[in-house]
Formats: sequence, C-alpha cells, structure tokens
Amino acid sequence: MIVSRTAELSRLDDLLTALAGGEGGALVVRGEAGIGKTTLLETLAMRSGDAVTVIRTCGAETEAELTFSALADLLDPDRGGAHLLRAGRSAGSGAG
Ligand SMILES: Nc1ncnc2c1ncn2[C@@H]1O[C@H](COP(=O)(O)OP(=O)(O)O)[C@@H](O)[C@H]1O
Ligand SMILES: [Mg+2]
Repeated sequence: MIVSRTAELSRLDDLLTALAGGEGGALVVRGEAGIGKTTLLETLAMRSGDAVTVIRTCGAETEAELTFSALADLLDPDRGGAHLLRAGRSAGSGAG
C-alpha cells in the first residue's frame, strides 16, 4: 500500500482524467532508485480501473542510445503488441 505522495497522486489522477476524456499526454516520473517510482506507477495502474488500457514496457540501460526503444518494444507484435495494433485499426476504422 502506498503511503503519502498526495501531490504526486493528485497529478497522476489529473492525467487519468485527461486520458479518459480522450486527451493524449506524457508524464515523466524520475528519481533515484528506491524513491518510489514503481510504487507510484503501480498505484496509478490500480486507480485507472477500466477507464484506460494499461500497457507496460521496460527500459534497458543497453538500449539507452536507441531512440524510442521502449515504445518500439510496445508496438512489436512479437512482444505482445499485436492487441495494440488491432485496437489502433479498430479505432481508426470508425473515423471519417
Ligand atoms: N509511497 C510509498 N509508500 C509505501 N511504500 C513505498 C513508497 N515508496 C516506495 N515504497 C517502497 O520502497 C521500496 C522501493 O520503491 P520502488 O517503488 O520500487 O522504487 P523505485 O521504483 O523508485 O526504485 C519498495 O519496497 C516500495 O514498496
Ligand atoms: Mg522501479
């Protein structure tokens, strides 16, 4: 269970509200190891309920020089990204 972090959780709740309303966005959570980044993001995922789809990726130090490496992993069908591509096509098919 997360303790404190009221201001951070409030900021993340704002992001969830925006996402549920169809707004895109990005938020960087950074800090030294052990400060609670993963705990905060796990709490965000739990709070999101069915409002948004939560997908996860992981950065590797060896890929730090590769632009959008984690994003590429997310979208790679061989690494579990197939459902994202399908979702994108479904969403796109209804447009104009
Ligand atoms: N706000 C918090 N409330 C309760 N436990 C926390 C909190 N922040 C961190 N912890 C605990 O501290 C440890 C490290 O937190 P973690 O989220 O893994 O840090 P980071 O991802 O920044 O390295 C974990 O055992 C986690 O449960
Ligand atoms: Mg962590």
